[in-house]
Amino acid sequence: MNTEFLKISGRADTPADDEILLRAADVIRRGGLVAIPTETVYGLAGSAFLAESAEKIYSAKGRPADNPLIVHIAYPEDAEKIAYTCDLYYRLAERFMPGPLTIILPKKDIIPDTVTAGLDSVGIRCPVHPAAHRLIEVSGHPIAAPSANRSGIPSPTNAEHVRADMDGRIDMILDGGECEIGLESTVIKLEADGSGCTILRPGAVTADMLSEVCPKVTISRAVIEPSLANEIKPESPGMKYKHYAPTAEVVLIDAPEEVFVNYVRMDAESIRRYGVLTPTETAGSFDGGVMLLLGPRGDAKEASRRLFTLLRRADEMELEKVYALLPPADGEYLAYYNRIVRAAGCKVIKLGNLF
Ligand code: TXA
Ligand code: MG
Repeated sequence: MNTEFLKISGRADTPADDEILLRAADVIRRGGLVAIPTETVYGLAGSAFLAESAEKIYSAKGRPADNPLIVHIAYPEDAEKIAYTCDLYYRLAERFMPGPLTIILPKKDIIPDTVTAGLDSVGIRCPVHPAAHRLIEVSGHPIAAPSANRSGIPSPTNAEHVRADMDGRIDMILDGGECEIGLESTVIKLEADGSGCTILRPGAVTADMLSEVCPKVTISRAVIEPSLANEIKPESPGMKYKHYAPTAEVVLIDAPEEVFVNYVRMDAESIRRYGVLTPTETAGSFDGGVMLLLGPRGDAKEASRRLFTLLRRADEMELEKVYALLPPADGEYLAYYNRIVRAAGCKVIKLGNLF
């Protein structure tokens, strides 16, 4: 298949963008697939009304058939057509939609079972990115869109990442530049009695932010201890798979920063090509290796924005190992924490003050 690659400004109100988005909407309505920028990561978009589109998505990604797709809508009230909403949904929507939040609701029959991998619930998200929003609006279909990567590897945060994974497999790639957030949306499920919600996948909408609206916010155990995801009954099937992993081995260290620096110096002696995920300020402390810069120390948003690009760069540069320091498992760092732990295959090396 010939994949069309088209640049857009990413602002919905330009006539040039609109012409392309109308064509992309046509591809979606006819059952084709288009990769689109969103504020989180690039999505692989197909009609959520067509089972054949979902089948094509699973096949293009090499995604296990039991991992459901998120359905994207233009406005929160569009959820009525596809799911059973509740008061808490609208309170959350008012505060966080459009934006990087996915809410799981009981699904209506109009959404084919293939889209939700046979589950009786559907994840709903309303993207704020103008091009994503406009595409959904003009296509007139809700849009099923997982991240536009081949299954298991880091999600794409620019169109070149998508091209590397999807060229020849889908109809169209829209290049709207770099994604602003860089990690996927927060996924939550609501308690049946409306008393609160549980975070199944952490993202830019944090537990503290959700607490402003939601009386009780629980963080699923598998978020903090991703290695549990295979053992406990996964509430969100995506949590149980190997994820976000580059080919390079990610070596994740739980230690004070000086200990980390010394460990890398020692361990990397025998390695030909390695990289270090590091805040900009610390980069000068390492003797060799490729510095994969996360931005200023303590800037969780910037580190999140860069993480997937840096993991992909490690593979582009054919690095054997990437060393990284374990971030805090809370607040704005929770999403970054969850992805890096999975990228490391859930293996964390804990070091005391050995040096
Ligand atoms: O930011 C995002 O959410 C991006 C952009 C493109 O919108 N999409 C994305 O989709 O990350 P995907 O398919 O890569 O991840 C969806 C996650 C998976 O972990 C899946 O298991 C979970 O959401 N999920 C989807 N529907 C679900 C459902 N009905 N119940 C439980 N988990 C669900
Ligand atoms: Mg994904």
